[in-house]
Amino acid sequence: MGDSSEDDGAADSPVLPLEIIVYILSFLHTSDRKEASLVCRSWYDASQELCFQKNVTYRFPASASSLELIRHLGGKSRCSLIISQLDGFSMSRSLLLEVGVCLGPQLESLALPGSSVTEASLIALLPRLTSLRRLILRGLDSLFMSGAFLSREEHRQQVRSALCGLEELDLSDLRYLSDVTFNRLTGCTPRLSRLSLAGCHIAFEMDPYRGCPVGTVEDSSALLSLRNLKKLLSQQKSTIVALDLSRTSITPESLRNVAQVQGLVLEELCLHGCKELTDYSIEILVKHQPNLWKLDVSACTELTSRAVEAIARNLKRLTHLSLYRNWRITEKGLAELLSVPSLRSLDLSECLHVNGTEIVKGLTGPPTARAQLETLSLKHCTYIRDSAFVSIAQHLGSTLRQLDLSSCICLTDLSVRMIATYLQGLVVLRLRYCEEITDWGLLGMEEATTDEPRPSLKDQGPRFTRTFGNMGFFQPLSLVFQEHPKLVTEDDLEMYKWEEGASLRALKGLQELDLSACSKLTDSSIKQVVRFPDLHRLSLSMLPVMGDASLASVARHCRSLTSLALSHCPHISDHGMAQAAPYLHRLQHLYLSSCNKITDRTLLLLGQHCKRLRTLDISMCENISATSVDLLQSQLPFLENVHCQFICGAEHLHYD
Ligand SMILES: *[C@@H]1O[C@H](CO)[C@@H](O)[C@H](O)[C@H]1NC(C)=O
Ligand SMILES: *[C@@H]1O[C@H](CO)[C@@H](O)[C@H](O)[C@H]1NC(C)=O
Ligand SMILES: *[C@@H]1O[C@H](CO)[C@@H](O)[C@H](O)[C@H]1NC(C)=O
Repeated sequence: MGDSSEDDGAADSPVLPLEIIVYILSFLHTSDRKEASLVCRSWYDASQELCFQKNVTYRFPASASSLELIRHLGGKSRCSLIISQLDGFSMSRSLLLEVGVCLGPQLESLALPGSSVTEASLIALLPRLTSLRRLILRGLDSLFMSGAFLSREEHRQQVRSALCGLEELDLSDLRYLSDVTFNRLTGCTPRLSRLSLAGCHIAFEMDPYRGCPVGTVEDSSALLSLRNLKKLLSQQKSTIVALDLSRTSITPESLRNVAQVQGLVLEELCLHGCKELTDYSIEILVKHQPNLWKLDVSACTELTSRAVEAIARNLKRLTHLSLYRNWRITEKGLAELLSVPSLRSLDLSECLHVNGTEIVKGLTGPPTARAQLETLSLKHCTYIRDSAFVSIAQHLGSTLRQLDLSSCICLTDLSVRMIATYLQGLVVLRLRYCEEITDWGLLGMEEATTDEPRPSLKDQGPRFTRTFGNMGFFQPLSLVFQEHPKLVTEDDLEMYKWEEGASLRALKGLQELDLSACSKLTDSSIKQVVRFPDLHRLSLSMLPVMGDASLASVARHCRSLTSLALSHCPHISDHGMAQAAPYLHRLQHLYLSSCNKITDRTLLLLGQHCKRLRTLDISMCENISATSVDLLQSQLPFLENVHCQFICGAEHLHYD
């Protein structure tokens, strides 16, 4: 402070050193930092510091104004581009040219989704991208249709000298990829570590054009063959670690062939929707590729618990596993799986037979021999009951960040109280369609019996948090339960019912919450509980009794909201919107479909307060006019998606 009095400071406000502002900005999320950079010149300068520019991805559609943007980006540090809607016309060509000239040596990653670029414009660009690590050509059929891409040796040489450091190549969803074009392109990228061919038509066994087994003839100019893929894996085996063959018709025999490529050591493999794969093929895979740490065998509908057992036994480094939509999987093998200490993320959604019994068994092992999950999805596991979930919650503990229990229709308030008590580290919580949940569960209170008065909100102080409140969450309890791991019995359940749990507000770091279709919830709990300063995404759709009071409270207490879903909430009206909108400046996505009390007045409010809005769903809002939708579109610069089918007087009108 020195000599300067407070008055001096006010008259001529001291300039904070740049480093201090940079330090302060480092605590902000990227989007907030972007906002902060608009405050004044020095904040803007601070936001341009290198430490914030490390890994910036710019995403925009091709347009005349994006030319200017690209010129502006030139000379900065490294960046990534996602440019959509490029076509074969001159504006797109000059855009790509500009990317090459201005950003060439600093571009780290390039994706061109939803585009149809010509071979010529890409061949003009690629030789300039000398630092490119990642190239995403997903669905760019225009490039491969003629089969002439990179057919000239001179072009191949130029592209190879630029892309020799390319690590990741995404060739998914390319209908016209053939052995010939695949080889020309991968010949320019000799050190790939990640390759995606998801959704490509790969000929695994028979060549449909020649009627003979693939692998007996030379490279095909009509299709990509397994033989050719194996050749690439073999050539680049020292660098390739990740492969995506999702949505291909890969056969068990072909997977065995890939898994057994000499010297290939895969760490990540994605086989989503490969419906022909059998348990046996997974057994062979995990035997030959024991270093896999990420495996996605979701929607491989033939797989059973035998595959789960093989995975659990062989993949000692497994951290991420998706078994989503493998409805033949039962409890068998899940105890072994949950005993894999490295496992961090498990997706069992739509594994309809899972009831949690074996998950609990796996989790009750000694801490060194059980998974420390950070992400768990049990969505649509409708047989999961409170008794299983209570044990799961106790043993998962504070490491869990994301939990999806949507459509676990048997879960009741007891499970919600367990979440609030044991899973306070949650960042994402989804309870959609858990229709048994009531206000009592959210508030962490017992429903009063006739003998006892209902506990009032004032002395709601939850028992566990009162006891351990200042000791950091969970630790004391976790110790108790680690020393005496036990399964919860029906008696325990009765006992827990008499203990007052914490309210869901205990999840202080929550960023995403889905309570939609928890149809018993009312304003009494939502007003009290949905108060999360970091909440970005909230869904309260399909809550038939929730009213404006909830909306007003949520807006006031959740100031970080960027996405809010209130569709099919019949009591939400303009009145609630009028109270909420002034607090919702950060809102980007708003869903109000079938809210009949919402009228043109709400659109006016949105135009005034929610300038960041990008998505608005007001379909089936009978009291909104097409004129006010047009007006709103003219007011809001970022509004890209407006869904307004079946609004008043504008049937089938659709902006996109
Ligand atoms: C950069 O960001 C992208 C997408 O946000 C991410 O996939 C990639 O791993 C990041 N790279 C680095 C080096 O952090
Ligand atoms: C869970 O499912 C297994 C069979 O998969 C069955 O034996 C067990 O009784 C079920 N447990 C509960 C609590 O429903
Ligand atoms: C909205 O429309 C419905 C039916 O078209 C009508 O019953 C209702 O009163 C209207 N609400 C308002 C606030 O205008």
